[in-house]
Amino acid sequence: MFEHLKTLPQDPILGLMKTFREDPRSNKVDLGVGVYRDEAGATPIMAAVQQAQQRLLETETTKAYIGPAGAEGFNHLIGQLLLGAGHPALNDGRVNVVQTPGGCGALRMAAEFLKLCKPDTTVWVSTPTWANHIPLLGGAGLSIREYPYLDKATLSVDFDAMMACLEQADAGDVVLLHGCCHNPSGADLDADQWTAITDLVERKGLLPFIDIAYQGLGEGLEQDALGVRLMAERLPEVIVASSCSKNFGLYRERTGALMLISANAAQGQAATSQLLSAIRSHYSMPPSHGAAVVEMILDTPELMQQWQNELNGMCTRILELRSALSRALGPAGDFSFIERQRGMFSFLGISPQQVQSLRDEFGIYMLDSSRINIAGLSTATLPRVAEALKEVAGRAE
Ligand code: LMR
Repeated sequence: MFEHLKTLPQDPILGLMKTFREDPRSNKVDLGVGVYRDEAGATPIMAAVQQAQQRLLETETTKAYIGPAGAEGFNHLIGQLLLGAGHPALNDGRVNVVQTPGGCGALRMAAEFLKLCKPDTTVWVSTPTWANHIPLLGGAGLSIREYPYLDKATLSVDFDAMMACLEQADAGDVVLLHGCCHNPSGADLDADQWTAITDLVERKGLLPFIDIAYQGLGEGLEQDALGVRLMAERLPEVIVASSCSKNFGLYRERTGALMLISANAAQGQAATSQLLSAIRSHYSMPPSHGAAVVEMILDTPELMQQWQNELNGMCTRILELRSALSRALGPAGDFSFIERQRGMFSFLGISPQQVQSLRDEFGIYMLDSSRINIAGLSTATLPRVAEALKEVAGRAE
């Protein structure tokens, strides 16, 4: 059975992690995979998480099955975190949340759910988008179409092109949007653009599917959820995939959620029953630990405060690194967009050859697309990265 199988190339993001690990140079810098790093280059366990884990250890009474929807308390609190307590969709009973194995689990189960709704569903994704979006959604059998998102000259959102393209979408098509901190570009929609896209989606009968994996790491917990909240209030149906990997630092605990906003409570109940049946036939139920930690934090005022302080610190540090990198690159080319972009990532807009030179000559790792993880920089490494980048960017191609 196995003899015809060919070895596949490495995953573009996870493969780079391995190549970086194997590089013996002591001054190497990892700007590849999207994990938050502190000044020392470490990805520590957040203090709020450590405390919640300690409390869990003392109070947890069972390891019995948790069920396909995961923990009810977690689901309720994630709904509030995404929408804000008292959001009209919550008050109207239009919101159902299920716990998933990470944001990837949420994305994949949303795709499986969409296939149940309409087997020939088309999903429009931004160009560029996160490298795993297309495998996750296309792998479930959905048709993928792309809409332009990034103006390559200015590395900002090409909103006119995006809107013009989405005019071609048919009623019932799904539009995948990044809730904040667009991955890979860091170029986010502003409030007016969220309003305009909500108008378009409403007028054309499209279904928005928002992936929000970085809430709190762009401008703050509330500001980053602006698009999700607006759409959930104005539109009858919205799908939201969220992740606790980055904002709780729970990467390996695989903690995420899938939220269905439905036209009314009865439709929400039917839709959720379909989703839960799909979950049962895929992985049966999600792992418990990460969600139990998140629930403990969100449900305990002092842990919530501690977590928000830590998250705000991470967000501020990323914004400071953005300004510092943009300043250090100075007149070497226009890199001012780095300061305007939000979240962990920026696209540098340099060629794959220049990316390769940075890797080979300087030990500076980024994705071939020139996406860098800003949070992988530190005040110690930033000057060397900026110098190398200036040198490579200044070479004739
Ligand atoms: C990234 O984009 O680097 C992260 O979301 C990690 C991943 O799984 O790709």
